[in-house]
Amino acid sequence: MDAGTAGAGAPLPAVIAIDGPTASGKGTIAQRVAERLGWHYLDSGALYRLAALRALRAGLPLDVPDAAVLAALAGGMAPVFEGGRIRMDGDDVTDAIRAEAVGDAASRIAGLPAVRAALVDLQRRARRAPGLVADGRDMGTVIFPDAALKVFLTASAESRAERRYKQLIEKGFSANIADLLRDLRARDARDSSRAEAPLKPAEGALVLDSTHLSVDETTQVVLDAYGRLRQG
Ligand code: DC
Repeated sequence: MDAGTAGAGAPLPAVIAIDGPTASGKGTIAQRVAERLGWHYLDSGALYRLAALRALRAGLPLDVPDAAVLAALAGGMAPVFEGGRIRMDGDDVTDAIRAEAVGDAASRIAGLPAVRAALVDLQRRARRAPGLVADGRDMGTVIFPDAALKVFLTASAESRAERRYKQLIEKGFSANIADLLRDLRARDARDSSRAEAPLKPAEGALVLDSTHLSVDETTQVVLDAYGRLRQG
């Protein structure tokens, strides 16, 4: 079956893929674009964070990871996304998965091909009419290679560290900019240099640097790019 058609030949719902490094604002932008279009939204990073949280709670070692065990744990998840909250294993884990330690663990397990493979179906099942805006690292390169529009959203490491700092403080976590900047650079290096689905712009992606753009401006650039595509 072609990646762009359903079994009976009907076209699959359109996808806008927004990839980029940690704290580039892709979650915020993807949600805004989805709201403006009335489309569904997939936060693929949340799936890696959920798998990481499950692994941490199970006390599994991540420095010497057992890929098969972690993949089974990731593939067996049944998270429920509802009203902006995420529930898993009977718990509201919306805030827990945003902790830095969980993000770091997510970046580690995301380097394991078996874990990535275990999460493919869960991500592709999010593609529902009238359309999907998906954010992550490999939405345009691996998960939805037929996406109508691919965006690679970036911003300077300093401004990303500052944004992450504000997010964490707002959520009641303690944070330190210098530590965040160091961790963010380490995570960028890990996400970009891994052999499996490394973070890089998809071919034909619109590379968008949001360092000096507001959320509204960045959202509009993406919507305009999609509008131009539709006009052909
Ligand atoms: O976007 P985020 O910070 O919530 O993602 C957490 C980690 O998950 C990130 O460091 C890399 C990984 N990830 C990935 O490898 N592929 C994705 N599509 C999304 C996230």
